[in-house]
This record gives sequence, C-alpha cells and structure tokens, in this order.
Amino acid sequence: MSRRIIPLADVSAVPDFSGVAASPSGLLTDTLVRPLRDLRISVTDRCNFRCVYCMPRDVFDKHYQFLPHAALLSFEEIERLARVFVAHGVEKIRLTGGEPLLRKNIEFLIERLALLRTPEGRPLDLTLTTNGSLLARKAQSLKDAGLSRVTVSLDALDDALFRRMNDADFAVADVLNGIETAQAAGLDPIKVNMVVKRGTNDQEIVPMARHFKGSGAVLRFIEYMDVGASNGWNMSEVLPSAHVVERIGAHFPLEPLEAHTAAETAQRWAYRDGSGEIGVISSVTRAFCDSCTRARLSTEGKLYLCLFAVSGHDLRGLIRGGASDEEVATAIARIWEARGDRYSQLRGSASAPSAEDARRVEMSYIGG
Ligand code: GTP
Ligand code: 5AD
Ligand code: SF4
Ligand code: SF4
Repeated sequence: MSRRIIPLADVSAVPDFSGVAASPSGLLTDTLVRPLRDLRISVTDRCNFRCVYCMPRDVFDKHYQFLPHAALLSFEEIERLARVFVAHGVEKIRLTGGEPLLRKNIEFLIERLALLRTPEGRPLDLTLTTNGSLLARKAQSLKDAGLSRVTVSLDALDDALFRRMNDADFAVADVLNGIETAQAAGLDPIKVNMVVKRGTNDQEIVPMARHFKGSGAVLRFIEYMDVGASNGWNMSEVLPSAHVVERIGAHFPLEPLEAHTAAETAQRWAYRDGSGEIGVISSVTRAFCDSCTRARLSTEGKLYLCLFAVSGHDLRGLIRGGASDEEVATAIARIWEARGDRYSQLRGSASAPSAEDARRVEMSYIGG
C-alpha cells in the first residue's frame, strides 16, 4: 500500500502581539498552571536514518519534499527567539532534528546559545539529541562550542536488527564508538534512549541494560508512541514500561529513585549493586502532561505546544515581518498563557486528534 505524503506546512496565522505588552518575568504559566521551562529546537527536518517508527522509507523516499534552506530559521533567528524564551523562564534547550548534526556548522549555533543566561544569571542546560552516527567525528567540537551533554538514540545492540530498524544500513559499532567518544570528551551525563517496539526489539532490553550497566551512561526505555501520522502505530506494539522494569529487575535487582525535577519525563530506577541507573519514559501508559513544561520550535520556526499538536504558531513570520523583541515576547506570552494541551492524557478520547489525522506533525519535523 502506498502511503500519502504528509503536508509539512500548516496554515497557522502569524501570532497576535497587539494590546498591552507582556514583559518577560520568568513566571509565565499556561491554563493548567504549567510554567515554560524547556525549549526543544529542531534545526533540520532531514535525517540520514529512516527509523521505521519515525521516518518510514515508503513515506520519506526520494520524492519527499524536505524544507528548502530558505525556510529554515537561521542561527541568528534561532538565537534571537531563544533569548526571548530564556527571558520568559526557559532553563533548558535541546537541539533536535531530524538529525541535528546534519545541520551545517551547528557548532556556531551552540556557541551562541551557550552564552545565554537565565534572568538569575545561570547558564542553560544545553543539550542535543542525536542518532550518534556523526558523534565520534563531532563530539570534541560540540564540547568545545559549549554543549553541556548529549542524548543518543539507540534501539538495539544486535547489528543486523539495528540496521533493519534504522533502515539505512548504519552499523551499531559506529554509534557505540560515538557514545564512547562523547564520554571521553566530557559530554556527560550521556543518556541513551531506546524506543521499545514489542515484537521488534524488546528482546534487546536486557542486553542493552547489561551493556550500559556500570558505563556511566543512563539508558532509558521509551514506550513506542503514536506520534505523527505515518508510522502506522498500533497499541499492540507498545510494551508497557512496567514490563521493562520487571524484565531487567529479574536479572539485575532495581529500586526506585526520586525524580530530579517534577517535569522529568523519565521515572528513574537504580541498580541495587550501585552500578548506575536506568529510566523509563511511559508516555502511553503513564502520561506526564500534568508537569509538561516543554515548548517546541520547528525547523521553520513554528511554535508547537505539544508533541501531538496539529498546528503551530508562526514565529518566523513574526520576526521576518519586522516584529520587535518586545512584540515577540508578548506573542509568546499570549500563546503560552492560552495553552491547554495534554494529548497523552486524552489519548483515545473523542477530543484528541487520532493517529489517522494526517495533519499531525511528524517527529522528524518538530523534534523528539
Ligand atoms: P533529559 O533532561 O535529558 O532527561 O531530557 P528529556 O527526557 O526531556 O528529553 P529526551 O529528548 O531525552 O526525551 C526522550 C523521549 O521522551 C523523546 O524522544 C520522546 O520520545 C519522549 N518525550 C520527551 N518529551 C516528551 C513530551 O513532552 N511528551 C511526550 N509524549 N513524550 C516526550
Ligand atoms: N515513539 C517514541 N519515541 C520516538 N522517537 C521517534 N519516534 C518515536 C515514537 N514513535 C524518539 C527517538 C529519538 C527521539 C528523537 O525521538 O528514539 O530518541
Ligand atoms: Fe532520524 Fe531520530 Fe527519526 Fe531515527 S528517530 S529517523 S534517527 S530523527
Ligand atoms: Fe507535553 Fe503534549 Fe507530551 Fe503531554 S503529550 S507531555 S502535553 S508534549
């Protein structure tokens, strides 16, 4: 069956900044009293992998229209928007993609973002999610540019299975090498994210735990989500995190750890023998929308308030239209104050957009 092409551009209007200016106070909250603390910025919609659950090759093939360069936010534009978000209370910035290391001279952007300070004068937690394929080559320059740490996606240790899952014939050894190089460069704590698809890679859970136990890297298991509109998601392919913890605990006893922060996506578990910790991210079986402080800026400068949103707010239109920083700050305040998104809590209910809704944005466009 051939699948439909997903339209990337939606019809969102340029945000409103008329009326009384909203000066950033760092105290913005949305309709569910959630502050704005994290900004995830997608720097490219391209990727050199074709993970079956994210960019299936039959959709993201040679006819797929990726964004032209002029549509992307420039580094200057990203920095300018990031500065306003930080004034509004953002403390953590994550660069994502697609694959962010494919964006040319990404180090220059990192250098600029690393100079930003919170209203209290603290540096940001500046991190990046990568598939690891270019990490061995880039780790040192990323560190030198001021990146705090990295998160690497890795779904299997078995080379044949890994190649099937990334569907681009990348070898697992290259990613493992990237992780080790990043550790040596001091980009820690390194997190390793494994999306678990029942029946595809769940047999890799214990080998992955064994491999990273005692390595200093924090392995996290992510429930396969119905994000986007092209991965053909099915609940029967979700392995609840409770099973993941049970399977690992049967080999290596675990005990629960306190959350670092209320907004943390992962529930943490420590190995009882003191050799580190794992995390489980259970957005399907245990939604964490109540504490969701995350905003997402797409590759072309649209602000999305939820991973599952069907439309974004065109901040690029705003800045290219000549808006001042104060006007941008006012628009962002209005948008965040009106936010009520909590898709994972509503999943399956009549008010949530279904996985068949072709308007739902793709993860490669909005960023994980
Ligand atoms: P750390 O500070 O490193 O712990 O970051 P994080 O866990 O917020 O970010 P990361 O990018 O590592 O998130 C891991 C995975 O969790 C993502 O790839 C998504 O699959 C999922 N995830 C992250 N944020 C959200 C969110 O807001 N909603 C949902 N439903 N899933 C999310
Ligand atoms: N479900 C869960 N996680 C996903 N990711 C991409 N698509 C999905 C999905 N359908 C994760 C990747 C990576 C990050 C960019 O997003 O594994 O860690
Ligand atoms: Fe690329 Fe990451 Fe999506 Fe895989 S999950 S296709 S590595 S953006
Ligand atoms: Fe946040 Fe939306 Fe994810 Fe809920 S589903 S945690 S609101 S991004």
